[in-house]
Amino acid sequence: MSNGVEKTQSTTRRAFLGAAAMTAASYQRILGANDRVGIGLIGYGLIGKQHIGDLKKFNDVDILGVCDCYKPRVEEALAFIGDKRTVGYSDFRKMYENKNIQGVIIATPDHWHALLTIMACAAGKDVYVEKPMTLFIDEGKWMIQAARKYNRIVVVGTQRRQGSGVKEAKKLIQSGLLGKIHSVRIGFSRNIYPGFGKTPVENPPADFDYDMWLGPAPKKPYQRHRGIYHFRWFWDYSGGQMTNLGAHLIDQILWIMEAKGPTLAMSTGGRYALEDDGETPDLQDAMWVFPGQGGQPGFVLNCAIREANAMPDTAGRGQVYLGTKGNLVLAGSFQVTSETRWINPENEIPRFLGHPAGGPRYDDTGREPFLPQYAEPQAGRGGRGGAAGGQAGGVASDARYGTGGEDTLAMNKRDWIDCMRSRKRPLCEVEDGHRVSIVMHLANMSLKLGRAVRWDPDKEAVIGDTEAQAMCSKPYRAPWDKELRAIVKV
Ligand SMILES: NC(=O)c1ccc[n+]([C@@H]2O[C@H](COP(=O)([O-])OP(=O)(O)OC[C@H]3O[C@@H](n4cnc5c(N)ncnc54)[C@H](O)[C@@H]3O)[C@@H](O)[C@H]2O)c1
Repeated sequence: MSNGVEKTQSTTRRAFLGAAAMTAASYQRILGANDRVGIGLIGYGLIGKQHIGDLKKFNDVDILGVCDCYKPRVEEALAFIGDKRTVGYSDFRKMYENKNIQGVIIATPDHWHALLTIMACAAGKDVYVEKPMTLFIDEGKWMIQAARKYNRIVVVGTQRRQGSGVKEAKKLIQSGLLGKIHSVRIGFSRNIYPGFGKTPVENPPADFDYDMWLGPAPKKPYQRHRGIYHFRWFWDYSGGQMTNLGAHLIDQILWIMEAKGPTLAMSTGGRYALEDDGETPDLQDAMWVFPGQGGQPGFVLNCAIREANAMPDTAGRGQVYLGTKGNLVLAGSFQVTSETRWINPENEIPRFLGHPAGGPRYDDTGREPFLPQYAEPQAGRGGRGGAAGGQAGGVASDARYGTGGEDTLAMNKRDWIDCMRSRKRPLCEVEDGHRVSIVMHLANMSLKLGRAVRWDPDKEAVIGDTEAQAMCSKPYRAPWDKELRAIVKV
């Protein structure tokens, strides 16, 4: 094989299944502390290029393969990598046969994440798979099956959890300092009105293998937006902004709150404003109920998505944790503010002309902060238009991305490579990605059904709604359904 695009488009099925049928242990040599790690990347797109940029800075890694079904991107990747040993592939199955590649990064659109991970596990590769980890709930169950069956390290690309601000915030919230956290709020807003335009049905570019790009997704006529980058706005390939951005924030919330999953999800929204050819909502509100310990109420999570209005809410693209004694706003770095306590809570009740006989008992006591070491959300009383004056922690960052001060993307890959050697469990792993995906998929299911969905987080099953339960799975298009069933129990 030369340092160029691999010539053979298709691998024979027999050759690949032969590899898949071997145990991971027999296929994969064990990495020693001083061994260099051979990595292959699938999907040299926006984030795939970023991954390659990071890997180039790691001095214990060789980028031995790069695969994309759009040929110009393979060529561009090879030029960017600049290592004669790197092989370009157009068919990932061929790359999975390369025994010198121990780990693969999956940076394709979402509808490929599960199957590529499952097939990589069966081929003895450790996996770094991008967020959102799945397109529908059952895929997460299949991925966990494959990861555990073949004893693979599977890291999910919700890298922001690696940030020091997130770790500090978790400690602080778990210490109970802020009292009972009963609400968490998140939101993503931007204004891209009127949208990205409409793209006509046409023949795919000659050097774009659209059938491979579609993979397990239903066959649909090609439009430019059903392809590079804009796949995010079509239900066949993604869950819209709910899963695109939700994956990052909800991952942090589940981790910080030590929550397994919600018992109820409800969501509404749709295409209210944008005039392009996307399908997923440009406006979506969602609410989830998370249980507490021993049947006690836990917390309620609210999410507001706006694609045609960028007026910032309290959190920007971060998270607001509301507790009985204090608040924490987290977007890479965090700020804590104090709630104030009425010494006599009846003094908070409006007075107007005064209550007739039998009304509240007012006295002269005032208010004091629950947490005197922290400022209130705003000077004096009033709204919650930010946490001005509160105490900050973590690394300063761009609130829109929540990572600015630290390169959490590189940190997450570092964790993956280190765990490939140590075989220890990474910080963001396949079970985490599955739980986060469940939360988001339940909201999208509720949105499509127009009713709330009840969920059992222990049994990981919908309660009392066969239509919703059926939405937890989707068929894969041939021949990919057979590939799936050859490896995991569906
Ligand atoms: N972790 C993060 O912060 C972050 C940031 C951006 C994107 N992402 C995720 O990364 C994924 C990719 O997003 P993107 O914006 O880079 O998309 P993109 O469209 O720019 O790139 C995806 C690439 O995958 C290729 N591809 C698709 N199917 C393939 C297959 N079967 N074999 C080989 N190549 C294939 C496409 O041709 C394309 O070049 C998405 O799931 C997205 O959510 C994560």
